[in-house]
Amino acid sequence: MASFSPKRIMLPAPDKTMAPSADRATNGAAPMFPEPLHVGRPNIGDREQFLRLAGEMFDRRWLSNNGPLVQEFERRVSDYLGVKHCVAMCNGTIALEIAIRALGMTGEVIVPSYTFIATAHALHWQGITPVFADIDPSTHNLDPHAVRQMITSRTTGIIGVHLWGRPAPVEALQEIADEHGLTLLFDAAHAFCCSHGRRMIGNFGRAEVLSFHATKFFNSLEGGAVVTNEDELAETLRLMRNFGFAGLDNVIHPGTNGKMVEVCAAMGLTNFDFIDTVVEANRRNHEAYRLALNGIADVRLLQYEPSGRNNFQYVVLEVTEGGVQRRDAILAALHTENVLARKYFWPGCHRMKPYRELFPNAGVLLPQTQFVADRVIVLPTGTTLPAHAAEKIAQVVRGGAEAAIELPSISARASAVSASVCIRSWWARPRDRASRSASLG
Ligand SMILES: Cc1ncc(COP(=O)(O)O)c(C=O)c1O
Repeated sequence: MASFSPKRIMLPAPDKTMAPSADRATNGAAPMFPEPLHVGRPNIGDREQFLRLAGEMFDRRWLSNNGPLVQEFERRVSDYLGVKHCVAMCNGTIALEIAIRALGMTGEVIVPSYTFIATAHALHWQGITPVFADIDPSTHNLDPHAVRQMITSRTTGIIGVHLWGRPAPVEALQEIADEHGLTLLFDAAHAFCCSHGRRMIGNFGRAEVLSFHATKFFNSLEGGAVVTNEDELAETLRLMRNFGFAGLDNVIHPGTNGKMVEVCAAMGLTNFDFIDTVVEANRRNHEAYRLALNGIADVRLLQYEPSGRNNFQYVVLEVTEGGVQRRDAILAALHTENVLARKYFWPGCHRMKPYRELFPNAGVLLPQTQFVADRVIVLPTGTTLPAHAAEKIAQVVRGGAEAAIELPSISARASAVSASVCIRSWWARPRDRASRSASLG
């Protein structure tokens, strides 16, 4: 491998502070950051190394179809995670679709609504009903009790999501799956390089799905993978991602085109040597945000478990009072200062058009999902965050939070509670109402 020297993109150092209100962009001053700060700005490893690998690829004229770079990339991922098989794919969404199909999921599958839309789409796209279960507001991950409530005679599986790279409740979900004969799959799109205790994410359920999209802390331009410890499943996944081909002119399985191409594997291999640098930058940024946000009323920074490894790729703020208006006021203040912070997974999959139309009353059983979705802001991080940006961004958050304090206080929790007492106006098909209402007690 070529030696590596990280190239930090240096933006002009911001010198504006937020002390006097006249200094705010909302009052006509120049924005705090001359260039926009994005959430998910790509981390890019050693360009020379990437170009060398791409050059070798062109020399070989082997651009796709399980080339040597993809094979090496798969080896590195499986070694890193201590998992038996890594089947690299063109992106995380197709990897989810292929895993769902290879695992034989049909009918209804239980998923969180508080996730990226691809988790639900990967089911819906294949004629499977995503049944949304509520989350635990303290972790943002699936609540096992809520999962139990959603099981019907048509349920075949559960897809847990390790949101923000924090492990889903894997033991509780496995227990439910075993008890009801359900297949457990994890969407680990956020959780590459994360662990649950001492065990790396990638080793739970029957399989786990990774995303290496450009905006993830580790990217292969576009890319994804299914990782599993099951030999037969891995074989099926390999067939399915390549039209079911088992050698030339011999198709033995239904399939699609889910292959990772060589240039993406070249980027993945390049970024492998950059992982520690990125995680360390993210960890430092997270710590700087933690210190700088400390003491701002009604704003909470989501913490990572010290008992496990994390990639720290998400800096997740919760605006605990004032509801969606206050959250949006803080976001607006950030945007005027060129900090392009984001709402995340708002408003929740069930409130997006395709699922809102299918399940107009789903929110009745998703009070915590709506509560969390209405209060989250994700802040920029990564290797390109300018020096001292976290401290300056925290000042904007403080200013926004204080300016918004006069807004009428919307008690999202109050509306959540009133929603949950309407639990019997159930949204599922009439056929399933009886069993679900019974299990709700
Ligand atoms: C939770 C989650 N699942 C699935 C995906 C889909 O991955 P991809 O963008 O690689 O298709 C993403 C991300 O982008 C995601 O955040």
